[in-house]
Amino acid sequence: MARVPFVCGNWKMNKNVPASLELVDELLGSVGPIQGVEIGIAPTFLALHPVRKKIQAGKLRLAAQNVHFESDGAYTGEVSVSMLKDLGCDYVLVGHSERRQYFGETNASCAKKTGAALRGGLRVIYCIGETLAERDAGRHFDVVSLQLREGLTELERGRASDLVLAYEPVWAIGTGRTATPDQAQEMHAHIRARIAETFGAEVAAELRIQYGGSVKASNADELFEQPDIDGGLIGGAALDAQGFLSICRSARSRG
Ligand code: 13P
Repeated sequence: MARVPFVCGNWKMNKNVPASLELVDELLGSVGPIQGVEIGIAPTFLALHPVRKKIQAGKLRLAAQNVHFESDGAYTGEVSVSMLKDLGCDYVLVGHSERRQYFGETNASCAKKTGAALRGGLRVIYCIGETLAERDAGRHFDVVSLQLREGLTELERGRASDLVLAYEPVWAIGTGRTATPDQAQEMHAHIRARIAETFGAEVAAELRIQYGGSVKASNADELFEQPDIDGGLIGGAALDAQGFLSICRSARSRG
């Protein structure tokens, strides 16, 4: 079965609520005719509610950038799965490299978050990827394998269709240095093979694996035409409506 590519904009800590709504308006104006690709946005927590109201049940999927694994309690500053679900979020990002790097997120905490989110009815975009030092040391396949092995311990086979993986080499994020299509494809094939070993060939064949790291309109085509790349997780280029829409069209054109 052909996988529907998924392009999601991760707005990170950019755009306040009015600016988020403005960008959503621009997207809504043009997203309608783009067929054959799932399109999502992950604005700041503060904008999730007003953005949800604006996009209604339309074409754009809504993603949160983080979640806590406990259901409720004394966790100052945290947001639970059910809170995001109540708000109408469809997806949540787990394990983004910036959360791993700056906020102490580990494969173990990602496993808890992924398990809690999937059990609570949120789809998960689980982010993985090696640092430059790890790649230079030739350890990139091992690092990603470990992120999969330790980060997906709470994934039940029956919920695998609610999981998306995002391969984001840390050295390509916000640096303007994209992985070559061959480098990306090689890693995506590795990831799919590891998923097949653990969860079976059928799950692996249906699982979408996004690429992330300096994707822009000018390099999206060559990345998305790789057989194991099923769309992208887009940072900087997602902050501009026309650039983002062009990337979405590139994903569509692959199918
Ligand atoms: P850039 O597209 O800005 O490199 O960011 C990628 C990313 O981290 C998306 O989650």
